[in-house]
Amino acid sequence: MSHNLLQGKKGIIFGALDSRSIAWKVALESIANGADIILTNAPIALRMGSIHELAKKCNSKIITADATSLEDLNKLFSDSMEYFGGKIDFVLHSIGMSVNVRKKRKYTDLNYDFLMKGLDVSAISFHKMLQVAFKLDAINDFGSILALSYIAAQRTFPDYNDMADNKAYLESVARSFGYHYGKHNKVRINTISQSPTITTAGSGVTGFDAFFEYANKLSPLGNASSEDCAKYCVALFSEYTKSVTMQNLFHDGGFSRTGVSKDLIDMLKNK
Ligand SMILES: NC(=O)c1ccc[n+]([C@@H]2O[C@H](COP(=O)([O-])OP(=O)(O)OC[C@H]3O[C@@H](n4cnc5c(N)ncnc54)[C@H](O)[C@@H]3O)[C@@H](O)[C@H]2O)c1
Repeated sequence: MSHNLLQGKKGIIFGALDSRSIAWKVALESIANGADIILTNAPIALRMGSIHELAKKCNSKIITADATSLEDLNKLFSDSMEYFGGKIDFVLHSIGMSVNVRKKRKYTDLNYDFLMKGLDVSAISFHKMLQVAFKLDAINDFGSILALSYIAAQRTFPDYNDMADNKAYLESVARSFGYHYGKHNKVRINTISQSPTITTAGSGVTGFDAFFEYANKLSPLGNASSEDCAKYCVALFSEYTKSVTMQNLFHDGGFSRTGVSKDLIDMLKNK
């Protein structure tokens, strides 16, 4: 059900690869709430994924950009302002990738070239897009910028590997840039720490099925779905959260606040 929370607002959504992507759900929910959006992803994702199908559904333009390239980001934000005929109201950073995870390197045996690549894609890209938008003065007053994170930034999940460190950096950028952008023209910057979700990036982590199930059993509400995450993003893009900034917001069915659950105890007792 739409509440038209984003009526008249214009946004850029990074990271829709296929219909399982969290960004895909955010794009659909934003459109359902009255927004106009531009979709963007890396050139390879445009070839491998199904973003064109999403663009058709959303009646939106696609602008290719590698989120690690300042040149691409400058073009993306400039072209978006030209296309919309004005500044942008919201942006979603839904990007993550670790070469060490892909190549199954252990955390105690990381390849540092891989580490730098993953950090650039997953976390520094957030600073880059914020800095480009800031310098171009591309975001309207009280605009809202979100990135997606994971609780491994606070607690250890061994197989999440160097992505844990990338998420810690990402959340720190939201706080630090949130101060400067807030002072500049009241732009809000937050991260949403989402439950494990079955997507291309999520399923790449070793043991994903087990920690998906573990989180589901620990969380009193169960794992938060990507559809609900999209609704939360829309609320944070909207006027209803105008004073929320510099936060890492858990969207996890209560996982982050639960020590143990009866479901898990019963499971261990029955072993
Ligand atoms: N799936 C989960 O369990 C989970 C949980 C919490 C947070 N997250 C986070 O949600 C975000 C979205 O991931 P997802 O689970 O929807 O998976 P996904 O694989 O669908 O999305 C990841 C996206 O990153 C894009 N990307 C990679 N390199 C890029 C680059 N250089 N430039 C631009 N885009 C690039 C990919 O093309 C893809 O669209 C990520 O930040 C991820 O860490 C996921």
